[in-house]
Amino acid sequence: MAPAVLAANGLVSGYGRIRILDNVSVSLSAGEVVAVIGHNGMGKTTLLRTLAGLLKAKSGSVRLAGRDVTHHATAVRSRLGLGYVPQGRQIFPDLTVMENLMIGQAARAGASDIPGILERFKSLTALLGRPGRALSGGEQQLLALARCLVGRPRVVLLDEPSEGIQPSIVDQIAEHLHDLSTTQRLAILLVEQDLELVSRVAHRVHVMRKGRFVSEIAPRDLTNPAMVRELLWS
Ligand SMILES: Nc1ncnc2c1ncn2[C@@H]1O[C@H](COP(=O)(O)OP(=O)(O)OP(=O)(O)O)[C@@H](O)[C@H]1O
Ligand SMILES: [Mg+2]
Repeated sequence: MAPAVLAANGLVSGYGRIRILDNVSVSLSAGEVVAVIGHNGMGKTTLLRTLAGLLKAKSGSVRLAGRDVTHHATAVRSRLGLGYVPQGRQIFPDLTVMENLMIGQAARAGASDIPGILERFKSLTALLGRPGRALSGGEQQLLALARCLVGRPRVVLLDEPSEGIQPSIVDQIAEHLHDLSTTQRLAILLVEQDLELVSRVAHRVHVMRKGRFVSEIAPRDLTNPAMVRELLWS
């Protein structure tokens, strides 16, 4: 098996004394798209925040490209190739599209490639001088993904990219994810509730319930609604 680009083992984390993430292990190889599905409040964002180092792991480990980064700050993980696109996009509304992209560049100095990213995200080229707040939700999501990719990550953690976005942009996101994983060998950990999107791009799917991975399924299983309901709820 190909060596893991990202490997988390037995992660436990939470907020204050409240434990949310309960012994979660996940690994990704280059070019692999692994999805995490689960209802609201099950701990999906908490998992990504713990992997990104924004939330401290109470136990367990995180390895990135063979290095133990469990106790490393978010900025160090970012320099080592961990990209994170948070839920709700969180682009800078008062900065222009170009300035937002330049912030992605600052995250990993020397490695960035804004022209290459604009070649890939052609629709952003016409918007470069526009403030972030004047973009549609879908355009903001594309910008958030593009900004992350400017730092040339090896792994991207992507939190609900389809949330509140029109279907045509969800299609574009699906195409980008497929292309990035196949041609750039990017590893993508995709948290998503749009099961259609997951079934189109994921290679493996973890089901999360109450902070735990309760099963791993194949994307084709998502076309069986009764089975998915059972996995998500029971
Ligand atoms: N800052 C916080 N302080 C305390 N509890 C929190 C905090 N953030 C999240 N939680 C709680 O942790 C649990 C998991 O939240 P999390 O955001 O990880 O869920 P999620 O699966 O991403 O949900 P959604 O699909 O709605 O985004 C929830 O019960 C939530 O209320
Ligand atoms: Mg969430």
